[in-house]
Amino acid sequence: MTEPEAPHRICVELPAPGPDGPVEAVALITLDRPEVLNALDSETMRQLVEALERLDADDACRCIVITGAGERAFAAGADIREMAEATPVSLTRVNTFARWEHIRRVRKPIVAAVRGYALGGGCELAMACDLVVAADDAVFGQPEIKLGVIPGAGGTQRLTRALGKAKAMELILTGRNLPAKEAEARGLVTKLVAREATLPAALELAAQVAAMPALAVMAAKEAVNRAFELSLEAGLEFERRNFLLLFGSEDQKEGMRAFVEKRAPGWKGR
Ligand code: HXC
Repeated sequence: MTEPEAPHRICVELPAPGPDGPVEAVALITLDRPEVLNALDSETMRQLVEALERLDADDACRCIVITGAGERAFAAGADIREMAEATPVSLTRVNTFARWEHIRRVRKPIVAAVRGYALGGGCELAMACDLVVAADDAVFGQPEIKLGVIPGAGGTQRLTRALGKAKAMELILTGRNLPAKEAEARGLVTKLVAREATLPAALELAAQVAAMPALAVMAAKEAVNRAFELSLEAGLEFERRNFLLLFGSEDQKEGMRAFVEKRAPGWKGR
């Protein structure tokens, strides 16, 4: 018996040099359930994680952009219809949290291109990305309290680290949404742009990152993320180790020699 085909939940555009790909070395993942504001049901999460892991292992890809289909949302959160009758047992069996853990472990940088709503799990997904390009109509928030629960994929931790306790408490305890302008002023957003410029700006930012030496990019991502987890002393130690390690790479020799010789570097990714 053949397995029924999984329903389509995301689009993946692989990087291709030249005009066929979105941008050289940049992959684009589009959450594709616009009829429910790209709500993240378990099949969407499964397909998203599968795509991210594939791209993480693909040398042709050096940066990933995630966006939402349609005009209205990046993602309006976990799928409430699917979740409504869940029990601790059913959630544990699906192993929802393992999927989020996989996203956290992706080594290549991820850019979120956020138009419209990024709520609940959608806000948590944007915050799990490394860079956030937001449209001026983007709306961030953790409204789970209004559903009788709390954020479950990092919202209480990442929002608090991004905004500080006072603001995070307000948003999480009242479910108030954070408009894009305020999100940018408070450091949740890398770049605020006009709505129609969101995806091009995210792809452009991803292309800038993808043009950097890949090993150093991964080491930098890892080190910055450690700043949220380690003491300053342990974080500085971690940074130093990665710094030293990069002196064993061909790209370090190439980058510094190119500077001295006043020419553009040619990166090899090793
Ligand atoms: C399932 C959703 C959805 C969601 C929207 N829809 N959000 N379906 N899960 N999270 C569906 C609606 O049911 C509706 O379907 C369609 O999308 C359009 O949405 P409307 O509500 O009609 O649009 P509007 O009135 O403009 O309101 C937009 C909105 C609202 C403010 C974003 O949809 C909303 O509040 N959504 C829920 C946001 C939320 O609470 N997110 C947190 C979820 S919990 P129909 O079929 O009626 O047209 C969570 C926990 C994460 O994320 C934990 C991870 C481990």
